[in-house]
Amino acid sequence: ERVRVRASATSANLGAGFDVLGLALDEPYDVIEVEPAERLEIRIVGKGAGSIPLDPEKNTAGLVAKAMGRDVLITIHSNIRPSGGLGSSAAPAAGTAFAINELFSLGYTREGLVPIAAKGEVAAAGVAHADNVGPCIMGGLTIVCGDHAKSVAMPDVSVVAILPDIEVSTKAARELLPACVPLREMVLNVGKACMLVAGASSKDPAMIGRSLMGSFNEKYRSPLIKGYEDVRAGALSQGAYGVAISGSGPTMIALCPGERSKHVEKAMIGQFGKHGISCESFITRVGQGVQII
Ligand code: HSE
Repeated sequence: ERVRVRASATSANLGAGFDVLGLALDEPYDVIEVEPAERLEIRIVGKGAGSIPLDPEKNTAGLVAKAMGRDVLITIHSNIRPSGGLGSSAAPAAGTAFAINELFSLGYTREGLVPIAAKGEVAAAGVAHADNVGPCIMGGLTIVCGDHAKSVAMPDVSVVAILPDIEVSTKAARELLPACVPLREMVLNVGKACMLVAGASSKDPAMIGRSLMGSFNEKYRSPLIKGYEDVRAGALSQGAYGVAISGSGPTMIALCPGERSKHVEKAMIGQFGKHGISCESFITRVGQGVQII
């Protein structure tokens, strides 16, 4: 017996929602297969093969299987660029939690699986942040708070993702953030995060886009991404609603109307090019939570 799931890329933070908000993307996605085994073992095929550790103690999916107390063979068909800021470490963790729950009929709800899957992130980020595994399991725009997670449907927007050829590790990007932020900055960030969720609930993409920008997260981390401000301005000039660093970077995402997506993509790549940086890119939509396939 074997359970096979599709676990998609995600974009965490959405600016001010640091460690709280995340968006499920329709593509790319990993395929995770889980089957009972004599001992816990991990195999990786695809983009992460060779760079993602196979030792279960150092692998996000391995930590999840350990936390759930199951000896399984986990095969990860990996399609999300490692260290890109698109939840490459979260998708195997979320997919594994979901698949083990199915395989052994453990009866967890999707919400109940989020804190379990978050334990996997310790292997990648050093902390059990849930803003990638949350949307990967729940879909749409997901809010995580303590052991709770809630998904809100998004309006129909295109998501343009630009992956510049820059190395950023999640651990290093987390260390850049100050332990304390001034009260005034905290108030502005809470306001933006709330407005973003209100924008999703009221199907107002312009409100979502405005709320994506100007967070403390952007202020401290954007210097890691050469050309950040020009790339953001390029996207906005072509009709993007807003731009943010995806997770801990270096990927940047822009939300825009479907018919503007190619123009926004071209402008962002062009601006990175002016700074001598080459990019990969893709255009996708908001995705659903992990599914059995
Ligand atoms: N919220 C996490 C961070 C996401 O920004 O460090 C990492 O992908």
